[in-house]
Amino acid sequence: MSEETEEAPPDVHHYQDRSEVPWDIQNYWAQRYKIFSKFDEGIWLTDDAWFGVTPEPVANKIAEHMASSAPAGCSILIDAFAGAGGNTIAFAKSGRWKRVYGIEKDHSVLQCAKHNAKIYGVQDKITWFEGDCFEILRNQLKVLAPYSAIFASPPWGGPGYRSDDVFNLRKMEPYSLQFLRSEFSLFTENMVLYLPRTSNLKQLAMEVKDDKKVMVMHYCMETSSKALCVYYGGFNMQ
Ligand SMILES: C[S@@+](CC[C@H](N)C(=O)[O-])C[C@H]1O[C@@H](n2cnc3c(N)ncnc32)[C@H](O)[C@@H]1O
Repeated sequence: MSEETEEAPPDVHHYQDRSEVPWDIQNYWAQRYKIFSKFDEGIWLTDDAWFGVTPEPVANKIAEHMASSAPAGCSILIDAFAGAGGNTIAFAKSGRWKRVYGIEKDHSVLQCAKHNAKIYGVQDKITWFEGDCFEILRNQLKVLAPYSAIFASPPWGGPGYRSDDVFNLRKMEPYSLQFLRSEFSLFTENMVLYLPRTSNLKQLAMEVKDDKKVMVMHYCMETSSKALCVYYGGFNMQ
């Protein structure tokens, strides 16, 4: 890479050895090449971002599914919660989209995403926005709405998120399922939500209007589900 002079913000790291890694990230450290296969090329992460990145094989599979099932007129993909770039990079690599937009509100995390996209050689295919995705969709990207699909991997949390067998998406924090659906529907019905594997399927189905279908796909690694994606709108999963 040519950007040896690129300065990481103070809360961004490329750990090189387990001894440098904070204790609560040590489990994730063991999976670093699953998270980013090019980890050793200098991947940047904030300590919080480790918990939320979509592992590369899962991100690639989602990108493949979205590419093959998106409505024909959809040429723009907006990653509303870009994080450190796990999904955004996979979408850009897929080659399906005329343009990929990545929105992230945390400055340091966005710097990670930009830097990581360079490592994967896809920086020229992505337009980045720093700020609140709901405002940016409403105020800056509205003109793209007729050609766009949204992918959203929101932060996961809320009462019972770790303990309940079936997670109540009405209580998801900071954004409930209903909030995400109603905000993103103002922009487009073509949306894919990346949600906890224990998500309440009845609640997902209640968001489907009339006789439309919705597809829920679990994404697994090493025989266990990491998460599910729910495909709304014109996505046509066979
Ligand atoms: C689970 S992470 C996304 C991980 C990402 N898919 C990846 O693979 O790296 C969720 C991200 O959403 C960001 N976020 C939360 N609320 C946001 C908002 N309103 N607008 C934009 N970004 C937001 C957080 O800062 C966090 O980085």
